[in-house]
Amino acid sequence: MTARTPALLVAVLAVAACSSKRSTTPGSDHPGPTGDDDAQAIAVPPPPGDAAPARVVLPAPPPVPAVPHGLPAATVDATPAQVALGELLFFEPRLSKSGALACASCHDPDHGYGSPRVRDRTDAGELDLRHTPALANLYLRKAFAWDGRYDDLGPMIEAHARGQLGQALELDAPWLLASPTYEAHLERLGVPVDDQDGEPAIAPAVTAALAAYVVTRYAGGAPWDRFEAGDRTAASPAAVRGYALFSGRAQCSVCHLPPLYTDLRYHALGLIAQPDEGRGRVEPGLRGAFLTPTVRGAALHPPYFHDGSAPTLAAAVGWHLDGGTGQHADRSIVDPALRPVRLSPAERADLLAFVRALSPDPAPPPVHRPELP
Ligand code: HEC
Ligand code: HEC
Repeated sequence: MTARTPALLVAVLAVAACSSKRSTTPGSDHPGPTGDDDAQAIAVPPPPGDAAPARVVLPAPPPVPAVPHGLPAATVDATPAQVALGELLFFEPRLSKSGALACASCHDPDHGYGSPRVRDRTDAGELDLRHTPALANLYLRKAFAWDGRYDDLGPMIEAHARGQLGQALELDAPWLLASPTYEAHLERLGVPVDDQDGEPAIAPAVTAALAAYVVTRYAGGAPWDRFEAGDRTAASPAAVRGYALFSGRAQCSVCHLPPLYTDLRYHALGLIAQPDEGRGRVEPGLRGAFLTPTVRGAALHPPYFHDGSAPTLAAAVGWHLDGGTGQHADRSIVDPALRPVRLSPAERADLLAFVRALSPDPAPPPVHRPELP
């Protein structure tokens, strides 16, 4: 073996590195990202004579959002770099097959990360079976989707990308890696972007980044939390009376247990108009039962329930007080913990005032939408 061989090998590999991944152009329905318009990233021009595209130096990511006041502290499985990429991807329509639908199209950040529509349409145009839930306080959950059929966010997001966005996350590798900004994000997360044998596997990092973003969407720090922390002016007398009803006669806290305002269990509320076996898909004994959603932040995201059938907060609360008989469900299929409760109009108003005190007031400013690379 001569001394020249290794040098030649290095040269060949260098050419291969320049041509392999760079030559993968995004599909025609995906406009080619340039990275030029990304205010958050700095493109470093290549040294003179080098034809490789500019590399992007990312600024240090902001810290992971802190768990707000009123919620239990916990270690959240998310790093600043993951949340930074997850934020971009959450708003990225190129994750869908059509190039038009993003996570944020259904999980609207200015609607408590839920949807203002009763049911959304997938990228393929099919009507979803269920109302798009608000994404809130998932960091303490061990089950995901209305029926809790996923016990981990990762597989849920992967399956959900195929179902809702019409495209497996692996298929996003070409256009993501063609963007110097996304390439820099993936590299920062340890994806071997300069791998010379074909395309590096990006799906695990993309899934983890999306999971890190959604798991750090919190509903907390509400007026009621400030009241409980000692600020007696933070909640109205009506809300204080409403709290007594919520945790007393109206028995709401049996299922909407503070401080998360959910027991993380499944209950049937007699919502039978639209056939859906709910948790029965996983546990046959729990047909028609759904995971108790938190009522924190609820004022931000009408309509309510897994079928989106309650157009207002008053309608959702009224449904409960009527004992889940609004759709003529046989009482035997309604959870026995949901009993009809008779409240005067003034008491109903108090109860609603309390539920509203679990949502930010005034409503939060519009969520910052990142400029996509
Ligand atoms: C077309 C609308 C639509 C799009 C787009 C969409 N989702 Fe969803 N999402 C839903 C619906 C509907 C459900 C409830 C599914 C069920 O219960 O079976 C859901 C459930 C979820 C959940 C579980 C929430 C909970 O409370 O258990 C998470 C997390 C989630 N979506 C994240 C995402 C992410 C991340 C994206 C982008 C990759 C995304 N969604 C895109 C409609 C959508
Ligand atoms: C037996 C348990 C149980 C009791 C008691 C209960 N809830 Fe619920 N609540 C649920 C479940 C389960 C859902 C979701 C049902 C569905 O979508 O199928 C829900 C949904 C809600 C929603 C809509 C949240 C959303 O994001 O769609 C609100 C608001 C609400 N409950 C408030 C109350 C109030 C106020 C009371 C007391 C009057 C109360 N609940 C009593 C279990 C309960």
